[in-house]
Amino acid sequence: MKLYNVYPRFDIKMEKAKGVFLWDNKGRKYLDLYGGHGVISIGHSHPHFISALKVQQENLIFYSNSVHLDIQDKYAKKLGEISGYDDYALFLCNSGAEANENALKLASCYTGKKRVVAFKGSFHGRTSAALAVTDNPKLSASLNMDGFPVDFIALNHPEQLSEVIKNDDVCAVIIEGIQGVGGLDAPSITFLKQLSEVSRKKGIVLILDEIQSGFGRTGKFFAHQYAGIKPDIITMAKGMGNGFPMGGLLIHSRIKPWHGMLGTTFGGNPLACAAGLSVLDVFNKENVMNNVLIINDILIKQLKNIPGIKKIKGKGLMLGIEFDFPIKEIREELLYKYRIFTGSSANPNLLRILPPLNISRQQIVAFPIALKKVLTERSVGYS
Ligand SMILES: Cc1ncc(COP(=O)(O)O)c(C=O)c1O
Repeated sequence: MKLYNVYPRFDIKMEKAKGVFLWDNKGRKYLDLYGGHGVISIGHSHPHFISALKVQQENLIFYSNSVHLDIQDKYAKKLGEISGYDDYALFLCNSGAEANENALKLASCYTGKKRVVAFKGSFHGRTSAALAVTDNPKLSASLNMDGFPVDFIALNHPEQLSEVIKNDDVCAVIIEGIQGVGGLDAPSITFLKQLSEVSRKKGIVLILDEIQSGFGRTGKFFAHQYAGIKPDIITMAKGMGNGFPMGGLLIHSRIKPWHGMLGTTFGGNPLACAAGLSVLDVFNKENVMNNVLIINDILIKQLKNIPGIKKIKGKGLMLGIEFDFPIKEIREELLYKYRIFTGSSANPNLLRILPPLNISRQQIVAFPIALKKVLTERSVGYS
């Protein structure tokens, strides 16, 4: 049998990873500045992560949510403490799309309404409701369309927001802390504050998609915490499990649950919780969020000295480096010549950087050096 060929892939067979490095089947070593779409938070195969999984698998790998699982409560407690959301409730699932699917359903259950406001450039996942609020019709099939009404408005335009919510039929506004796939555009602090206030006044559920921008990626636990707001629902995945599939929702206490409202077989399984707990342990022990700010500072200073960069977008270690020309060749050169993984986005001119959050200063500096060389060789080539 062959794999269903939906992914364009690099001609690389990956075999091993440790910390910020990857090795292919030919023994070639790569610096990972992309973490497999922003998933690797505490580094590949962190020793604490590995030993937590080993210990858990000796005891209990799986049982369903029909029984109490202590490790779920432990995880919820620790996540509440570190995120500043201990007054919210946690629902665990398996992926980003599933988290957003459940968040949108909750908003509709809570308000009894079904219109949603989303943003131009958004990406929220590939299941039906998540796709409906994703600003890319090319990803949808006929059956994903027309499930519920969605208005896409521009980021940072409060007048557009006022216009689409005037009929009192909106159940939710869904917004990314910083747009990932879309190309690192972000809501301003002022706009997030307005959004929070307007949603509260109108009884609209504000959903903050922190699937990519959360879990310390920006130097705060969640990107929206720079604005000092508290959304009604926060969705999470990616860095949460450091590669172990895991997603979740933080839910305001005013949104009451009933049995059967949400559910999942695998969500919150003991192995996922063990993985998640070890991520939070490492956050505390290694002061990971502080490291994000330190490395950001070093990297930005070095990038600013490189001619040819048009703009640097994003926060912490969720960065987009924008050029006046498509980055495809630069990205390939970085990968095949300098063995550095970077990412792309919907903006063809933007290089996306999502390294493990505990990357060191010695490790990160290889990147601006290589980027400068690639850009210099490129301009020499053109002259
Ligand atoms: C902001 C955001 N939301 C949702 C998703 C979907 O997550 P998943 O691929 O785990 O379903 C992604 C994935 O890239 C994302 O970046």
